[in-house]
Amino acid sequence: MIQIIMYRTCRFNAIAGSKLDIMNDLRRLLGPVFLMITFVDIKCFYIKVIAMTDTTNAIGLKTIDTTDLANRLNDLLANYQIFYMNVRGFHWNIRGEKFFELHAKFEELYTDALVKVDEIAERILTLGHTPAHSFTNYIKVSAIQETTQVSEGHKAVETILSNFRTLLIKERELSKLANESDDEGTSALMSDYIREQEKLVWMFSSFLSTK
Ligand SMILES: [Fe+2]
Repeated sequence: MIQIIMYRTCRFNAIAGSKLDIMNDLRRLLGPVFLMITFVDIKCFYIKVIAMTDTTNAIGLKTIDTTDLANRLNDLLANYQIFYMNVRGFHWNIRGEKFFELHAKFEELYTDALVKVDEIAERILTLGHTPAHSFTNYIKVSAIQETTQVSEGHKAVETILSNFRTLLIKERELSKLANESDDEGTSALMSDYIREQEKLVWMFSSFLSTK
C-alpha cells in the first residue's frame, strides 16, 4: 500500500545544509520512498513522504509510523534533558528554611528524570532510530527553557510545575500517536510517566498552597 504523509523535523538546522542527511536518513529507515520538501523555515523541514506503508521493523511496527514516533520521542528527550538540568540547579542553589526538605526532594526528582532520559533514548533505539545526544540539539528543540540562578523555593517549585505541564502535554500527544500506531511499548511508558507526574503536580501544588 502507498501512503503519503507530511513529515516535519527540527532535528537539524535548515541553514546548515542538512537536507540531504535527513533524506538519506529517511530512506534508510523507510526503505524505498519518494521525498519532496514542500516547505522550509529557519529551523524545520516539512517533507512530503510517499512510502510503502506495509514495511515493518524488527518489532513488527510499521516503519513509517516509527519515524514519527521516534521524532516525537526525541523531542521529549530534549525536554527531559533541560528539565533535568533545571532541577539539578535548584538542588544545588536552593536556600532558606526549607533547604533540607527541598534539596532532598529535588535530588529525588532529577534522579528520576535521569532514569526517564535513559528509558526514552532506549525506546527510540528499540524503534530502530537514533536518540539525539547533544545539548546543542536539546536547547534548539526543547520547549522547556533553561532556568538558572534560582535559590528561592517557591520560584523553583513554580518552574517545576510549569515544566511538568509541558512534559504532560507532550506525553499525552505521544501516547495518542503510539496508540494509533499500535505501539503498546511507547504507550505504556507514557502512561506511567503521565500517572506519576500528575500526582507530583498535586503534591507540588499543595506545597505552594497557603489555604
Ligand atoms: Fe547533591
